[in-house]
Amino acid sequence: MSSAFRFVEVDQPRPQQPWPSIIVPRQAIEHEIERLASIALPATGRRASAISHPSNTHEVPCFAPGIDVTLHVLKPGERTPPMARSASAVDMCIGGSGVASIGRHSFAVERFDVWNTPSMEPVSFRNDGKDLFVRLSYSNAPLLEKLEVHVVDTAPRTVSAHEGGDSAAPAGPRARDKAEVIDLGSEGAKLMGYEYLVDIDIVESRPLLWPWAEVEKHLAKVYHRDLSYTGRHLYLLYNPATERRMGTSHCFFATIAKYPPNKIDQPHRHTSAAINYYFFGHGKSAVMGERMEWEAGDLHFSAPGWAVHNHGSREQGFCALTIQDHPLQIAMESLIWQETLKSPIVKLGSQRGFDTNIGELVRAA
Ligand SMILES: [Fe+2]
Repeated sequence: MSSAFRFVEVDQPRPQQPWPSIIVPRQAIEHEIERLASIALPATGRRASAISHPSNTHEVPCFAPGIDVTLHVLKPGERTPPMARSASAVDMCIGGSGVASIGRHSFAVERFDVWNTPSMEPVSFRNDGKDLFVRLSYSNAPLLEKLEVHVVDTAPRTVSAHEGGDSAAPAGPRARDKAEVIDLGSEGAKLMGYEYLVDIDIVESRPLLWPWAEVEKHLAKVYHRDLSYTGRHLYLLYNPATERRMGTSHCFFATIAKYPPNKIDQPHRHTSAAINYYFFGHGKSAVMGERMEWEAGDLHFSAPGWAVHNHGSREQGFCALTIQDHPLQIAMESLIWQETLKSPIVKLGSQRGFDTNIGELVRAA
């Protein structure tokens, strides 16, 4: 007889304990970059530090419960050995320049460029410039670690950029075409054969680059939008592989905001957690009733999931990269959203979402 398990009464929902909003100031980030650059290159070939939130009690560092933020530094001439893992990532270069090699793809990156790294692709970075190559990397590894399925291969078979083969290409007849599909009732419930579990329709997942030089040109439009706009002054960096989940990676969206001076957003909340990296200007926030100010170079755990918050600019306006685990929450049917505190609480992706006044502004222009 096993005595290892126990029964736990669960008649009451557990009160949630959102982690407090915190700011990692620019000076602390710069100091850590200098420290990483000053140490001997670790045997792993990686100069990297993850930023752990003070409320994190798990041994794996994370900045939001399901999101890690890692500072990676490469000195000129250095390159990281290839690694593949089951986590996916979104990165922003915040200093210098380098080359990202992800699976069969390779591209040069420079300051404020953003790209996604699909899971299980051999990834390496090299610094072919004269300055430190610094990037912030956001991944879903903490969630996978909690699930004990963060699969990491430190010696993956590398694939050359010229190697053929498209993983999305159909390859002959599929066993599942012979498997049963049986309708049950008239509401859509079915019985389906095992083959449907092990041969899922493919949506190719590729690394995509959003170069700052291109993105910046388009931001003027959101920056100049009228202050009465009820949406956010930003663009989503959309990866079509995420389809209706509106992501940059399969777990996260990244947005780039350019706020005009003195624009204050409405207080709102969503179950997705948000992390902001400010790279121009300054602003202020109120999160769970706490007021805080921030400036370019700060990293901000800006919205614990389901915490009421709002952000606003001051006299300079600001630019920010925001990462949220929005596509993950949509996939889990848990993206609950309240656009203003007077709005209904809506399950985005299953229920009609919210309107902004963009139509009025476009007509008035
Ligand atoms: Fe928000």
